[in-house]
Amino acid sequence: MTQQSPRRSVAVEFDNVVKAFGPVQVLHGVSFSLEPGRIYGLLGENGAGKSTLMKILAGYEPITGGTVRVNGEPQQFASSRDAEALGIVLIHQEFNLAEDLNVTQNIFLGHEKKKGFWLDDTAMERDAAAALAQVGLKVDPHTKVRRLIVAEKQLVEIAKAVSRQARLLIMDEPTATLTPGETERLFRLIAQLRADGVTIVYISHKLDEVERVTDEVIVMRDGRFVTRAPTAELTRHRMANLMVGRELADLYPPRDPVAMAQSPAMRVRDFSVPGWADNASFEVRPGEILGFAGLVGAGRTELFEGLLGLRPAGGSIEIGGKLVQLRHPRDAARHGLTYLSEDRKGKGLHVHLGLRQNLTLMALERYARPWLRPEAERSALAAAVKDFGIRTGDLDARASSLSGGNQQKLALAKVLQPRPKVVVLDEPTRGVDVGAKRDIYFLIQRLAREGLAVIVVSSELMELIGLCHRVAVMRAGRLVATLDANQLTEEELIAHATGTAASHA
Ligand SMILES: Nc1ncnc2c1ncn2[C@@H]1O[C@H](COP(=O)(O)OP(=O)(O)OP(=O)(O)O)[C@@H](O)[C@H]1O
Ligand SMILES: [Mg+2]
Repeated sequence: MTQQSPRRSVAVEFDNVVKAFGPVQVLHGVSFSLEPGRIYGLLGENGAGKSTLMKILAGYEPITGGTVRVNGEPQQFASSRDAEALGIVLIHQEFNLAEDLNVTQNIFLGHEKKKGFWLDDTAMERDAAAALAQVGLKVDPHTKVRRLIVAEKQLVEIAKAVSRQARLLIMDEPTATLTPGETERLFRLIAQLRADGVTIVYISHKLDEVERVTDEVIVMRDGRFVTRAPTAELTRHRMANLMVGRELADLYPPRDPVAMAQSPAMRVRDFSVPGWADNASFEVRPGEILGFAGLVGAGRTELFEGLLGLRPAGGSIEIGGKLVQLRHPRDAARHGLTYLSEDRKGKGLHVHLGLRQNLTLMALERYARPWLRPEAERSALAAAVKDFGIRTGDLDARASSLSGGNQQKLALAKVLQPRPKVVVLDEPTRGVDVGAKRDIYFLIQRLAREGLAVIVVSSELMELIGLCHRVAVMRAGRLVATLDANQLTEEELIAHATGTAASHA
């Protein structure tokens, strides 16, 4: 770790920055500057170029044209190490962790402490523990990252950055996977860093957070700088409109009535996932959108992972009136149940594969008769790109080349490819911009209207209330209430999730 003049500030100037990936130009001459010690919100639709610009600043991507100046000096970083030497550190949107290394090893990856020839494990473990305490992550530092849940991975990513003595810290969607409690702690950490003179770039689609923590907002659109303004002069509504470049209509579609007389599309009885969920019983009807609320750790994700055969579990599942045994997500897909994992990178997409391969992976029977028919796949991809508004310059690209929000849309398209009867969407709009969020809500509603039963697991209470017909609440592994979403308030949901509501489940 570099320990030079710890209190120096960092100012940045982007001057006509251009970036192309092969023939596709994604940044078209971006110019703006960052003053030291301030907190900037960087806003823009999915694919606007926010992450790309910040990866250039942090030395992860070479610049194609233009100049980046740090404290007045033009810089061409050959690697993230060069940027880190100037105190510029990026917290990645798509975590940049080595899954098979443990927490301490990840925190010090590339910055290992040495004592003579040997790794100084004692010092690294001590410093790792301090960094973990700072972000409030309570895990054994010897745990392999693969075994962590996404929120924990995010906190490791933050701890790693914090331990590098950043003077300019870029946070790319840092709270997408965090609980409200963890988010509050992060905000306290940000306040502390700011008091310390650290410049912060905060990228988020959660406009309430941008409103709360930033001094100034910078908006990008289609690879260009659009405008900047002091946060205090903007409303959330105005921020959203600046991002999408037009007036946004209502975020949520009107609710269609559900025919409650219909027999359930899926009925789950006395379903348990040892250690996580206890005797859960619920059902969802064709055309119904059923929400699942709860604090992180309440067991929602684990309940559905159990249901899909991803964890040891027991209980009865009926789909379309038939008792089924699901040992694997493939069994589930065959019976008409698919699942969008909250862990997009870990369990959702194969980012090194192409968009086509990702899209059709769960519905291969349809594209392989008996051989894979690339033209059928290609037209399915073209349709999905249109339906889901996936922004990509190139249909033959790998999934890793999509922006975060566009990967989310691809993952969503993928689980709908097998044309399921029931779909479980775990955090479907994570990292998705407000305009695209609205598109996804309307799409979910359209699918429900066509008879799909939809289960939405979400930590965004407003999303559950705005989109769903009913909301089930889990607390400590138990289903404690199922509430009609009409007239439901956030307070009521929180009360059930935390156990402070008068019980009338
Ligand atoms: N390695 C790559 N190869 C090809 N294209 C890429 C690559 N990385 C990014 N892009 C493209 O650059 C554009 C900008 O992507 P970027 O990730 O910067 O968007 P973003 O503003 O961060 O969006 P989001 O809000 O979804 O995270 C997108 O069209 C994306 O597909
Ligand atoms: Mg991004």
